[in-house]
Amino acid sequence: MKRTFITFAILITTLVAWADEGMWIPMLLQRNEAAMQRAGMHISASDIYDVNNASLKDAVVLFGGGCSGEFVSAEGLLLTNHHCGYSYIVSHSTVEHDYLTHGFWAADRSQELPCPGLTATRLVRMEDVTAQVLDGVSQTMTEAERQALVAKNIEQLSKSLTQGTHYRCVIKPFYYGNQYFAYINEVFTDVRLVGTPPSNIGKFGGDTDNWMWPRHTGDFSVFRVYTNANNEPADYSRDNRPYRPLKHLEVSLKGVNEGDFTFVFGYPGTTRRYVTHDAVDLAANVENPIRIAMRDIRLSHYKRAQELSPALRLRYATPVANIANGWKKWQGESLGIERLHGVEQKQEQERDFSRWASSRPEYSTVLGNLEKLYARLRPLDVKRTWYSEAILASDLMQRANLLDLLGQATPESDRWTQILSAIDRSNSRLFDEDTIWQSHLEVDRAIFVETFIAAWRVGQAPYMDKKYRSEAELRKGLDRVFDKSLINKPERFAAFIDQYSGSKDDLAKIAKDPAVDLLRVAKSFALASYLGSANQTELYNQISDSINLLMRTYIRGMMEQYPDSNFFPDANLTLRVAYGHVEGFRPRDAVRYTHYSTLDGIIEKENPNIYDYVVEPRLKELWRTKNYGPYANAQGEMPVAFIATNHTTGGNSGSPVLDADGRLIGINFDRCWEGTMSDLLFDPAYCRNISLDVRYCLFIIDRYAGAHHLIEEMDIVR
Ligand code: ARG
Ligand code: GLU
Repeated sequence: MKRTFITFAILITTLVAWADEGMWIPMLLQRNEAAMQRAGMHISASDIYDVNNASLKDAVVLFGGGCSGEFVSAEGLLLTNHHCGYSYIVSHSTVEHDYLTHGFWAADRSQELPCPGLTATRLVRMEDVTAQVLDGVSQTMTEAERQALVAKNIEQLSKSLTQGTHYRCVIKPFYYGNQYFAYINEVFTDVRLVGTPPSNIGKFGGDTDNWMWPRHTGDFSVFRVYTNANNEPADYSRDNRPYRPLKHLEVSLKGVNEGDFTFVFGYPGTTRRYVTHDAVDLAANVENPIRIAMRDIRLSHYKRAQELSPALRLRYATPVANIANGWKKWQGESLGIERLHGVEQKQEQERDFSRWASSRPEYSTVLGNLEKLYARLRPLDVKRTWYSEAILASDLMQRANLLDLLGQATPESDRWTQILSAIDRSNSRLFDEDTIWQSHLEVDRAIFVETFIAAWRVGQAPYMDKKYRSEAELRKGLDRVFDKSLINKPERFAAFIDQYSGSKDDLAKIAKDPAVDLLRVAKSFALASYLGSANQTELYNQISDSINLLMRTYIRGMMEQYPDSNFFPDANLTLRVAYGHVEGFRPRDAVRYTHYSTLDGIIEKENPNIYDYVVEPRLKELWRTKNYGPYANAQGEMPVAFIATNHTTGGNSGSPVLDADGRLIGINFDRCWEGTMSDLLFDPAYCRNISLDVRYCLFIIDRYAGAHHLIEEMDIVR
């Protein structure tokens, strides 16, 4: 009975899934154009991506290394999420000038704040370079030989594609290396903070509401890109001037209705849509539970400390946001996979493939071989996960790891400089004030000891057994490491790093440090040889490479098996289009979610005693007087967020959400809890992206912050 149900469910999902699932390549959007127009789009594929004329793609950027953003004015004004600008907002904040808590609005251009290290990357054009990248590759090559040749081809090609320009080139594999695309980019390096709402708007609901609907987060911040006098990228200089984009988005105040066509245009990071049941099982039932449990420990200590003082709240703001984000997503992901019988669903698909492949020698062994490889990968993967989530959980061990890497780096190399500056950054963050440092030591000790012991209890730190015979002894031993390490002596450690030259003495000092010593043993157990066995990192990489190679064959087979289906390539942090409809859903029995939320919901959630649910008096006053101006919807409400069936993932944060005419109606910032498994399995009944309604963004800028001059820069369509 159950079996038939599952088979039926798969048939349904494979048929329906193609409707909204997918993250499409802009250059090949002609293939989707008819379907998009049938779904309601009024514009054409070439309005979205065109190399000869300015098109919507010129208004979209990769914001930093992992978010998206969009130009909304002729003078380089850029919108993205609050959580994407977060670390830059934090870095400009002090307890005295706490922009994170109170918000910040540059009164004029001279007040816009430079953000060293922040980039905005515009795609100039893309090209299918499969033939050039695979030039010389033959069927008889080993995977390692192929990789070496491909890397060489990519290097040459990147050079020739950007010769004589200020552009940079990135070449990425698609469909596990069946295809390659080159991206010619323009990378802007002077990006300044223009404005941000206070945390209790930009992060309203905090980590409690994160990944959930109904949502009321005003998740946006405003930046501006600056260039040299030729409108070309340049590092920060007072003489730089606002960038004049080839295209900026029109902003629509028309709002959304259920059923409206919408598309998201941005940089989704990673999906793994085509992996086999073993990979799904590994993620849902092995990796996620370890990650969640270890992050429970870290979060509980950080959050307790955050309650102690505003300085500590700020100190832990960025790490808590990062740790909590993955922690919660993985819970939703595992639940979603379980609900969908994800592992069984994949097995069923694999049986279907095997039947088809049995008479095709090229494909008949691929799944069996993948299964064997996963059986070998699994124990190594468990070790890695424990290592990265437990052993490396504390600041102490993370910095011990930096020291270990420093000891291995060639003096004065790029890597050396990078590691030293990472150590410097961690130092200045920690040693600023003595009181913070003392509290931090307590927090970090608890995290170090508890996560280590958790790993030890499940046999993931067997190297401790020789030295310590009981948990109590181990605990004492860990305390000793914590107290003795140079890393935990701020002045002496800073002095050591200042004079560091990689000399013999320096290296000996590193090796003698008890934290580094422990780190090295742990690392060698988890990632490299331990007790004389083979080097596990190499083994791990070999197995992953072999899996990759087989996946290349497997996906080619699936495409042959279903020649009429349009297989989207997994997300890989390249520009994509996802399209769908504004739509509510039924998360569970007897509950139906409508497609939008309003300011009334913020007032409903208000709780002055809970940090995440404090409502600013000024916002409340605007709500009380219904002072919404042109930003209200037809019912007179102030819309805040809406959901739709666009297929998105991490990296899509900050992406423009556009209407049938290609106008900006929202800023993507999240997914709904019930659909967080969509990186692995997309279910149109549950998978929804969450977008900020652009009208709320404008309302906050205009009515709340009084930054009307920014609104005036935009092209607003009423
Ligand atoms: N879940 C969203 C995303 O993956 C938002 C994360 C930031 N918000 C937060 N409360 N940590 O990135
Ligand atoms: N918040 C995510 C990000 O930072 C986007 C939400 C998602 O993963 O879909 O990119």
